[in-house]
Amino acid sequence: MTEEFAVEMKNITKTFGDIKANDLVNLTVKKGEIHAIVGENGAGKSTLMNILYGMYHPDNGKILINGKEAAINSPADAIKLGIGMVHQHFMLVSTLSVLENIILGDETVKNGMLNLNVSREKIKSILNSFNISIDLNASAGELSVGTQQKIEILKLLYRNAQILILDEPTAVLTPRETAELFKTMTELKNSGRTIILITHKLNEVLSVSDSVTVLRKGKVTGNLKTSETDIKVIARLIVGGELQEESQNNITPGNDTVLEINDLHVKNSRGNETVKGISLNISRGEILGIAGVEGNGQTELVEAVCGMLKPESGEIKINGKLPSHTVTAHIPANRHLHGMVKEYTLSENVLLGRESEEKFSGKFFLNYNSLKDFTNELIAEYDIRPGDSSAVIGGLSGGNQQKLVAAREITKDSPLLIVSHPTRGLDIRAAEFVHNALLNECKNGRAVFLVSSDINELLKLSTRIAVMFNGRLNAVLNSNETSENEIGEYMLGLHINKIDKA
Ligand SMILES: Nc1ncnc2c1ncn2[C@@H]1O[C@H](COP(=O)(O)OP(=O)(O)O)[C@@H](O)[C@H]1O
Ligand SMILES: [Mg+2]
Repeated sequence: MTEEFAVEMKNITKTFGDIKANDLVNLTVKKGEIHAIVGENGAGKSTLMNILYGMYHPDNGKILINGKEAAINSPADAIKLGIGMVHQHFMLVSTLSVLENIILGDETVKNGMLNLNVSREKIKSILNSFNISIDLNASAGELSVGTQQKIEILKLLYRNAQILILDEPTAVLTPRETAELFKTMTELKNSGRTIILITHKLNEVLSVSDSVTVLRKGKVTGNLKTSETDIKVIARLIVGGELQEESQNNITPGNDTVLEINDLHVKNSRGNETVKGISLNISRGEILGIAGVEGNGQTELVEAVCGMLKPESGEIKINGKLPSHTVTAHIPANRHLHGMVKEYTLSENVLLGRESEEKFSGKFFLNYNSLKDFTNELIAEYDIRPGDSSAVIGGLSGGNQQKLVAAREITKDSPLLIVSHPTRGLDIRAAEFVHNALLNECKNGRAVFLVSSDINELLKLSTRIAVMFNGRLNAVLNSNETSENEIGEYMLGLHINKIDKA
């Protein structure tokens, strides 16, 4: 009997031109479990799920739903079988209300008229049974990404989905929103629903899933019970054992101070003081990590050091001098807002903020040839795909966009490199690449100021970790002498220290 399986996909093959996106893939998902699918960008995860949801037709293979062979030729077929999917990019209509978005395409028609009250009651009972609170009258465009995602999930529940596919749902969420999503997922699971979760974040896989399927270049390389595996094993299956992990362990910082901050006070754009007296030094060859729950002043601290926010008082010096901010290299948290111009080519994006550099200046105009050569060097060194300097950056995957922004900033001639959440949304190999590049810069004598919400990333890269809580430094810890738990406790303010200077 295969009744215990909600989904069985057998020998699924799908080619796009020369690319085998799925190559004899087998996937079995038990009823009522949370099943994670992991793999690098391009491994074939979305393709497989789009096949299950009826968006693509496989070249070969068959699908069984609840033990019965199913012909899924369209999303409508999938929905009839109780399958729902939240795509990587949300598809809400921002001008419509939450209620309208949920029922869009599935209006309950009564005597030829839409009966909104029936729909509203049905949605309210769903909200109640899963402890979700949301204003049904708000317009969808005004809501946070976390809430928009809840609406996407509500859409599926409204259509009575029993099998929910979530394609990288946490890539754009804050840690708090992720925690809320996982709570909802667990409640859905407890109600007997089956969830398939695509994610890049292996700690999420371990915390929320029951089993894992690993894809690599279109093929299944692993099928694991979560309780019987660990991050290292999964990571190796994802990349095929080629990861070269480095860490800060063999780095000894120098003695010369590069960044010096004295009693810095900064207000955010709403006029609240969010940095309340911070002092710290970073030396040549040191990575100082800043930890903190979002909203404890880290963002404003970075923005002040970058010259994006003017401090109320206090001092920031780079190599002993007040900085002229044009020399600061900064890998920003939000590459779409601060790091790149989507409509520009790779070359044009490389030039951003570097227009005055001698190597790019010709006799009268910009030296396009040397810009192109330099872009090609970065493309080769950072393995940016597609490797075409005249391609528009908006067409690249998020990981490749981030690699280009990182490459541009890392290769700037500046003694200090400021880095915020450098691997958010990156797959494991791209993240590894950026990590190694940062460690390398540090070995070359640069000072690195790293802000990250990923404690493991901080532990791996920084020699010291300063924890911010409520605008102040609550602890300064040596990475080799602390733990994820201890850092977490300081982040939450379970212990209060008064640190004068990091
Ligand atoms: N509609 C499509 N047309 C052409 N190629 C595609 C299409 N969808 C996916 N691919 C290719 O198939 C491969 C797998 O892609 P995808 O399933 O999106 O990977 P993942 O979700 O794991 O990042 C990639 O090489 C991708 O470029
Ligand atoms: Mg995908």
